[in-house]
Amino acid sequence: MSATPLKNDRFLRALRREPVDRTPVWLMRQAGRYLPEYRATRAEAGSFLALAKNPELACEVTLQPLRRYPLDAAILFSDILTVPDAMGLGLYFAEGEGPKFTHPVRTPADIARLAVPDMDGELRYVMDAVRTIRAALDGSVPLIGFSGSPWTLACYMVEGGGSKDFARVKSLALNHPEAMHKLLSVTTDAVIAYLSAQRAAGAQALQVFDTWGGVLSPRMYREFSLRYLQRIASELERGEGCERTPLILFGKGNAAYLEDLAATGAEGVGADWLVDLGEAARRTGGKVAVQGNLDPVTLYATPDAIRSEVGRALDSWRDGNGGSREGHVFNLGHGMSPDMDPDHVGVLVEAVHTLSAR
Ligand code: CP3
Repeated sequence: MSATPLKNDRFLRALRREPVDRTPVWLMRQAGRYLPEYRATRAEAGSFLALAKNPELACEVTLQPLRRYPLDAAILFSDILTVPDAMGLGLYFAEGEGPKFTHPVRTPADIARLAVPDMDGELRYVMDAVRTIRAALDGSVPLIGFSGSPWTLACYMVEGGGSKDFARVKSLALNHPEAMHKLLSVTTDAVIAYLSAQRAAGAQALQVFDTWGGVLSPRMYREFSLRYLQRIASELERGEGCERTPLILFGKGNAAYLEDLAATGAEGVGADWLVDLGEAARRTGGKVAVQGNLDPVTLYATPDAIRSEVGRALDSWRDGNGGSREGHVFNLGHGMSPDMDPDHVGVLVEAVHTLSAR
C-alpha cells in the first residue's frame, strides 16, 4: 500500500491510546438508508447486494456520510454476510424481512462441505471496493475493514436468516458441540483470511462484529464465541509498532466480558450502551481503547438532549480513565436506523468534537 500520510489520524491514535486533540467519532451504519443520497445510489444499483458488489458504487456510498459530517473514519460499505454467501449459502434479501440464505447449514454433512472461500475469487469484489475507497479517500481519514464474528456468522448460517430466539443454532451447539466447533473453526479460518485480505488491500483498521454473542449464556459465550475471537486476535497477522493494523472487537451485550476481550490482544473493544463508559474504562484498565457507546435511540431525541448525552458519555469515560480522554473512540452502541434524522447526526458529531476539544 502506498503510504499517503493521513491528514486525520485521530482514530488510529486513539486506538493506540495516544493523545489526541479531540475524541474521534464514527458511527456504525453511517452509510445507509437514513441518507437520501444513499437511497438514490441504491436505486441506481437496483438492490442492496448489487450495490455492495459494485466497487465504484460501494465507494460512492462509503464517502457519502463523510461529505456531510467531519467523521474521523470511513467504514467499507459491504456486509458481514458476504463470507457465508461466498461459501455457497446463497445470500438474498427478502423485501422487509432482512437477510436470508437459500442453503442454510443444518446438518453435519452441510458443515463438512464448507470451505474457506477464495479472497481473489468470490470475494474479489470486496477487496476491489477496499482498494477503490482507499484511493478515493486520498489519506483524508483511515478506512475500517470488517467481518462478522464466527459465532454471529454461524447464527445466520444455521438459522438461514435473522432469528428471535436462535433456537436452531443454540440447539446445534447443545446437541452436536463437535459439529458446531467444526463450523466455527472453518468460519474462523475464513474470517482471518477475509480480514487479512482487506488489510492487504488497504484497510487501516479492522472491526469484528459479534452482534449476537450476547444471546449466549456465559458458559456458552466463552465456548462458542470468545474462544474464536481470541483465535482471531492472536492469529491475524497485523504488523508491528506504529504500522500495526488495529483490531476492534465489537459485541452487543458483551458488558460481562470486557476483561476477557481486553486480554485478547485486540487494540479496541466496542461496547453497547448497557455499560457505563467509566466502568468500561476501569475494567479494561488501560489495556485497550474502548469504542462506543451511545444508545442509538438518542438520535431520535432533540439536539439539546443529544448534546447532553454526548457530554455525559465523554465525561464518564474521562472519570473512569483517570481524568484523561485518551483511549476513547466515540460511536453508538449499535448501528443507525433508516428513519433517523441526518441533521441529528451532524449535531452528534459536532458535540463530540466540541465537548472533547483540548
Ligand atoms: O456501518 C456501515 O456503514 C458499513 C456497512 C455495513 C452494513 N452492514 C451495510 C448494510 C456493516 C458494517 C454491516 C454489518 C452487518 N450486517 C451486521 C453487523 C452489525 C450489526 O448491525 O449488528 C449484521 C448483523 C449484518 C446483517 C444484515 N445486513 C442485516 C441484519 C441487514 C438488514 C438490516 C435492515 O435493517 O434491513 C443487512 C443489510 C444491510 N447491510 C443494510 C446496510 C446499509 C441495509 C440494506 C438496504 O439498503 O436495504
